[in-house]
Amino acid sequence: MAGGGLYVPGLVPVAPGQRILSSWLAHSKCEPSQTTLPLRPSQGLKEASPFLGVSKNYLAALSLAAVGTFRMLGGLKAQLCPSWQPRHGRRGLHGRCACRAAGAEDGADLPRRGAAAAAVTAALAAAVDAGLRSDDRYAPAGPTIWPPKPFKETTRSELVSGSIWGLEQVIAFFTVSANIRMTVVRLQDGRLWVCSPISPTRQCLQLLNELGEVAHLVVPGTALEHKASLAYFSQIYSKASVWVSPGQNTSPFDPSLGSHVDGVLGQGGSPPWEQEIEYKVFYVGPPETAGTYAETAFFHKKTNTLLITDAVLKVPDMPPPVLASYGYEGTPEELSLQQWYYKFIAFNFLTMRGSDEADFKALCKPPGIVSPILRFTLYPICQKQAAAWVESVARWPFEQVVAAHLQSPFRLTPAEFVDAFGFLFGKKSSWEPEAAQLVNLRSASENLDGPDALKSSIWGRFDVAQS
Ligand SMILES: [Fe+2]
Repeated sequence: MAGGGLYVPGLVPVAPGQRILSSWLAHSKCEPSQTTLPLRPSQGLKEASPFLGVSKNYLAALSLAAVGTFRMLGGLKAQLCPSWQPRHGRRGLHGRCACRAAGAEDGADLPRRGAAAAAVTAALAAAVDAGLRSDDRYAPAGPTIWPPKPFKETTRSELVSGSIWGLEQVIAFFTVSANIRMTVVRLQDGRLWVCSPISPTRQCLQLLNELGEVAHLVVPGTALEHKASLAYFSQIYSKASVWVSPGQNTSPFDPSLGSHVDGVLGQGGSPPWEQEIEYKVFYVGPPETAGTYAETAFFHKKTNTLLITDAVLKVPDMPPPVLASYGYEGTPEELSLQQWYYKFIAFNFLTMRGSDEADFKALCKPPGIVSPILRFTLYPICQKQAAAWVESVARWPFEQVVAAHLQSPFRLTPAEFVDAFGFLFGKKSSWEPEAAQLVNLRSASENLDGPDALKSSIWGRFDVAQS
């Protein structure tokens, strides 16, 4: 969340007082859902369960704690009341107090019993918490803003030999889930440049520490999912420099950036890694947009790699492997292709129209596409600024891209990068949807940006109302 408005994970700015369209926000803020998210009706009650993101291990641990409390209270009662008689040899609360049965006054014991019960409950809660934390995948509240919780699997891939790694986790909203990637670059001095920190589980930190010393932390934009863990990383790696994109801390909903920030990219000062990693900031704010929005593109000169966050994506034929740790709706399992098609289309707010496979394959085909959410809800209100940024980024001689979601790395030339953004320049883009796929996004754009947004040339070619 950022700026004068809110940001949903797909980076949609939401002005204060405007309708919150995303079911993701509606769920998290307990507001009436006005969702246009195309959840499948056939999923039944499970989709409405607030526990979906909670692992079964966690629920089992809580159940054990409850049972333990129940039984221990019985034992405690027996200790406090000498006349306690278990019924039929059962332990726990199933029993009777002989003194009560005899009409004796035991009210004087109540405060003592209450205090003891509270102590036992607290001890059990601490034990359960300690048990949860013993798992290296434990994802503490705070930095972990979205399920799966309390356990989050982290995978690590060497994306560019000896130079760039991706550490991936899942972010999930009921049946809609996606991979999120923290990008790690090894600099010439052997130390690490870490962009878009993810949930700092022990597993994640161990996989990171194995690569070397963390020297720099970077927030690549204003999207919540790419900055929520920064404060925890800067606490853990207190010697690391911290550089953030502009537009942070402009909303009361923005997470803390931690104890120190060394600089804001593009607003003066030169980051110590600039000789190896160049950057170009895209930033817009009021009055053009309801809130602030930023995405910084980076260019790793040694490997000719463009490091991007959300703007350009490569849709893989198969689901990213880490998605299996969450499965379809919280139970670890491999996804079927149909489930993968659904997850991708739903995550991008595209309208399902009974042709998931064909629609998905059209999205896979280009070497890279622009995030449909950004294309239709952000860029129509800041088209000129976006076009200038795209043209500037395309001057770097990159050969491949590492993005914060979906497949990475993927081959992409500067010309292909511009092709993906053809809609900014009045041209055809690498992926062109049909109007029927844009019903949800049109509604979102109209609500978020106002009806004038639909007059943009980005929308002008799609007569959604007639589809
Ligand atoms: Fe993102």
